[in-house]
Amino acid sequence: MTDPALDAETLRERALTTLTTARARTTLLTSCVDEPDLTAQHSPLMSPLVWDLAHIGNQEEQWLLRAVAGRDAMRPEIDGLYDAFEHPRSERPSLPLLAPAEARAYASEVRGRVLDLLEGTAFHGTRLTEAGFAFGMIAQHEQQHDETMLITHQLRIGPQALTAPDPDPAPPFTGPSEVLVPGGPFTMGTSTEPWALDNERPAHRREVAPYWIDTTPVTNGAYRAFIDDGGYDDERWWTPDGWAHIRRHGIHAPLFWHRDGGQWLRRRFGVTEVVPPDEPVLHVSWFEADAYARWAGRRLPTEEEWEKAARHDPVSGRSTRYPWGDADPAPRHANLGQRHLRPAPAGSYPEGESPLGVRQLIGDVWEWTASDFLPYPGFQVFPYKEYSEVFFGPEYKVLRGGSFAVDEVACRGTFRNWDYPIRRQIFSGFRTARSAEGA
Ligand code: AVJ
Ligand code: FE
Repeated sequence: MTDPALDAETLRERALTTLTTARARTTLLTSCVDEPDLTAQHSPLMSPLVWDLAHIGNQEEQWLLRAVAGRDAMRPEIDGLYDAFEHPRSERPSLPLLAPAEARAYASEVRGRVLDLLEGTAFHGTRLTEAGFAFGMIAQHEQQHDETMLITHQLRIGPQALTAPDPDPAPPFTGPSEVLVPGGPFTMGTSTEPWALDNERPAHRREVAPYWIDTTPVTNGAYRAFIDDGGYDDERWWTPDGWAHIRRHGIHAPLFWHRDGGQWLRRRFGVTEVVPPDEPVLHVSWFEADAYARWAGRRLPTEEEWEKAARHDPVSGRSTRYPWGDADPAPRHANLGQRHLRPAPAGSYPEGESPLGVRQLIGDVWEWTASDFLPYPGFQVFPYKEYSEVFFGPEYKVLRGGSFAVDEVACRGTFRNWDYPIRRQIFSGFRTARSAEGA
């Protein structure tokens, strides 16, 4: 969405392409396992896959058919079942959910009506339809649930259901391990990206002191040095809450890792394999990322430091949409969209690097930041407070950049994700930073 003044046919095409791409992925994720695996709860942290499927259709109905087109509810009796705030994930398997065939039929009936609506939509006049925002919001919502469903697949115990080619191998990264970002103001957030969500808005200036940031995400090999050094047994590296949490739950390695003699193995989508040392570490909590950083004599970057590294062009002084500039993501820039089922080796994607040379900011792994999830100055709810506003506060930490499981429609230099600091079933990793001496 580079040009906000795009004509209606281009917007229609974009809405259609992004909705269709999302549905193809939803279909893959809900057809690669048998019925019992669609209705089972594979982890108390997750919904049954069939809940996500009908919830995707229900949100699409609510926003595109009801809010935009003014239609009546197709099945008013099911709204409550698929309201994420009425029932926590752990309760969802005991609800009278639509069976898989019904959920599929409902979602596809909604989609059929939405495609008819799209034919006649004028992309101006209301804030919801301006530049196709509601269509973009719904495509992003579906893709976010597709990532959620991929997490459910990762948690599921059973034979491999999904396959994808591996990323290209890369020679060990030999560039500088960290990059200096000069101090000074930059523009954070956006007021012009048409499909940006409310929490990314508005654009505003931020003063940032100079800092060093890792060129690549922290790798499994580097993280293993922390484990081998007794990092999980040394209270000095942990916040009091983090220490209490890992003690109570006996946590001593990333989720899905286990030790086998002298080596570390991991389970990844039903396959057990040796942990690859050159790949960004995945499935660590904020507490683990924060402890590693302290052990390394460093710290997590703040959210503004992450975004300045990803968007600030020191030549023009502008903030770009992505580290590589304003162009939409292409496979040469970043590992996105579940093209692969794992992060690419650290140092991959030189064409995706920022002007200062920071790599893999977009794609591969979500990166924990030091920051709480808070509204920007001038924040306004749009279009509903349950997307962002109800989550603002110190209990959630911000993640940036997106994982291999994020589609490009739900990923950009301004995009903000958030979760509890204990969470690690998500595709989370991190990079570290340190303040520069003097200015
Ligand atoms: C932005 C990923 C935290 O999954 O809870 C999906 C996205 N919001 N449906 C979530 C979302 C409503 C949200 N995260
Ligand atoms: Fe949702």
